[in-house]
Amino acid sequence: MREHVLLIGGGGREHAIARALADSECELYACAGNRNPGIAGLAADFESVTETDPEAVVAYAEEVDATIAVVGPEAPLAAGVADALEAAGVYAFGPREAEARIETDKAFQRRFMLEHGVPGCPEFRTFDDPEAACAFVDEYDGDLAIKPAGLTGGKGVKVIGDQVTAEEGKAYIRDSDHDRLVLEERLVGEEFTIQAFVANGDVRTAPAVQDHKRAYEGDEGPNTGGMGSYSDAGRELPFMTEDDYGAAVDVLEATVDALEGYKGILYGQFMLTADGPKVVEFNARFGDPEAMNTLPVLETDLLEVLVAARDREPLPELSFADRATVCKYAVPAGYPTDPEAGARVTVDEAAVAGVADGTRDALLYYASVDEREDGIYTTTSRSFAVVGVADSIADAEAVAEDALALAGEEGLRVRHDIGTEALLQRRIDHVDRLRGD
Ligand code: AMP
Ligand code: GLY
Repeated sequence: MREHVLLIGGGGREHAIARALADSECELYACAGNRNPGIAGLAADFESVTETDPEAVVAYAEEVDATIAVVGPEAPLAAGVADALEAAGVYAFGPREAEARIETDKAFQRRFMLEHGVPGCPEFRTFDDPEAACAFVDEYDGDLAIKPAGLTGGKGVKVIGDQVTAEEGKAYIRDSDHDRLVLEERLVGEEFTIQAFVANGDVRTAPAVQDHKRAYEGDEGPNTGGMGSYSDAGRELPFMTEDDYGAAVDVLEATVDALEGYKGILYGQFMLTADGPKVVEFNARFGDPEAMNTLPVLETDLLEVLVAARDREPLPELSFADRATVCKYAVPAGYPTDPEAGARVTVDEAAVAGVADGTRDALLYYASVDEREDGIYTTTSRSFAVVGVADSIADAEAVAEDALALAGEEGLRVRHDIGTEALLQRRIDHVDRLRGD
């Protein structure tokens, strides 16, 4: 029988997963809270389901005879969707709720690193009393990052000395209703992501990607879920060495060893500091946007990886095309603080596809939009992304810009600086300065 793969989630990341499976020997089914037109177009069936409702997901999995499920976002993992699928006899590529705590509980994550001697852990303290946390801000010698322990969509962290002063940080601790906090050493450097495919004790890593968290050009403004990202033709990024990449992979491997039985994607967010890569956080799933950089250059059949994972076989070695990628998100006006939901978006998919030529590809991924009878509408999160794929970052960036211009981004906002030479040079200079070159 052909595998029936059920994909859970309706964002850009899940559209990238759907496209990676589209040419595989499987029937693809998908469910999400929003109707993502890109995924719906690729799947044999698309069902509107509350992604965080394990019973509803299991019911749909049973209806479509799913043999493998891929859980895209973190919220269903936190809600125990992988556990429920497993209990119903459906293999879920995604960790159980307890193991997803590596992402969903930042206090657990830091203690876990410390207990198991995982390298790259910053100095940290956990608090459940805001006043004790404020006292620590006063006594600590240096800047701190203030992190709510639970999930915040990447928007809950405040870094003293970067986004806020110590006084503003303390006001944030007192005003926010997060009952548990992690305060940790502020890491200074350049961030990068490595995603690993994990199952049966195997760890297979993808090329490094750099996301752009800040809402506005020049890395200004509030943190977002990620405005866009790039990857280079090799495994490293232009500001890092092979050794930096290797040190980050060592961290991922040590984490998987300590977690025992982890399956799914383990996403490491690293800060390349003067002392090498340190862990900013782990995620228990592909990155969004990073999946849109990684999956288009994955040459190994994703289905083969999923089947090996389920059948308790060694994971295949992964092959990635030597191509650079640049991904740029178009987001609703006002995102992330006051996003304008319910605005109609028109995207010219055919025009985007037309940008491709013999050496360059232009891809379009729908994200948190909702397709209704009379058109596609924005929600409160990112709307769609374009990805340029080419031999160099500069070419991929140019393709992404051409694609955006043709896709139609009226009423939406884009960080046009992502992947540009000027911004890349700033990253390289930053690391050179830190290393005292
Ligand atoms: P997180 O939700 O942990 O991914 O944090 C969101 C963002 O906050 C990260 O991408 C970093 O830019 C920043 N951040 C988190 N932890 C630290 C830290 N210890 N030092 C500096 N920046 C941090
Ligand atoms: N790009 C950040 C994330 O997926 O959490």
